[in-house]
Amino acid sequence: MRHPLVIGNWKLNGSKKFIDTFIAGLCHNLYGIEGCKVVIAPPMVYLDQAKKAMYNSTLLLGAQNVDMHHLGAFTGEISVSMLKDIGVKYVIIGHSERRSLHLEDDQVVAKKFFALKNTDLIPVLCIGETAAEKMAGKTKTICARQIDVILQLHGANVFQNTVIAYEPIWAIGTGCAATSEQIQTIHKFIRDHIAQKDSKVADQLIIQYGGSVTKNNAAEIFSQPDIDGVLVGSSSLRLDSFIEIIKLISTRKHKI
Ligand code: PGA
Repeated sequence: MRHPLVIGNWKLNGSKKFIDTFIAGLCHNLYGIEGCKVVIAPPMVYLDQAKKAMYNSTLLLGAQNVDMHHLGAFTGEISVSMLKDIGVKYVIIGHSERRSLHLEDDQVVAKKFFALKNTDLIPVLCIGETAAEKMAGKTKTICARQIDVILQLHGANVFQNTVIAYEPIWAIGTGCAATSEQIQTIHKFIRDHIAQKDSKVADQLIIQYGGSVTKNNAAEIFSQPDIDGVLVGSSSLRLDSFIEIIKLISTRKHKI
């Protein structure tokens, strides 16, 4: 069964006070709400504090990045085992901001994916096209390329218990989300693409959408059959909006 999944990607935002206040508010407001997994991905430096603030709740901890190396002379980096040690469950990799601002290409992202798959941490593989690529009709080609780097090396099985987040770059932080029909088309394409190799893995794959998700469009987006959840940036920093999004999604039926 594919469970609905909402991830709050806090990016470079937050403080000690914000973390404690926000997570306490979230726990209070979500008490008794089931049917949706909720992950918070704060900046690395606050992971441990966030984990403690989540104690005794159903919230799960996410990280925004990880290094492909396991240990050694890699100044400034954080390894998979360190994240696991802190209690992280989900790890966002290949976010377009890391691809463009930190020059992480498909090969780097694939190495991070495999590093995570060697543990029980769940990769959240972000893929998506630029506005120019969309205009040129290349959305499916780009998404396929970003998946194929992993698929061709290690087969479809490696996508078991993973998440793909389709995040069109033109929709991130712009206030201009893709329409639910556009998203459904691409999510179905992603699922079919993996199903060509292994339909069971494809059926179980959680495919999230990210890019200007708000409390006003979350229900409509989630109503489509291949949209299993949302990866939320700016609306996950506003407690009332984030709670509303989670509530909207948790009342919908599980898919498959
Ligand atoms: P946004 O960010 O919701 O602010 O558009 C989404 C993301 O980058 O994951």
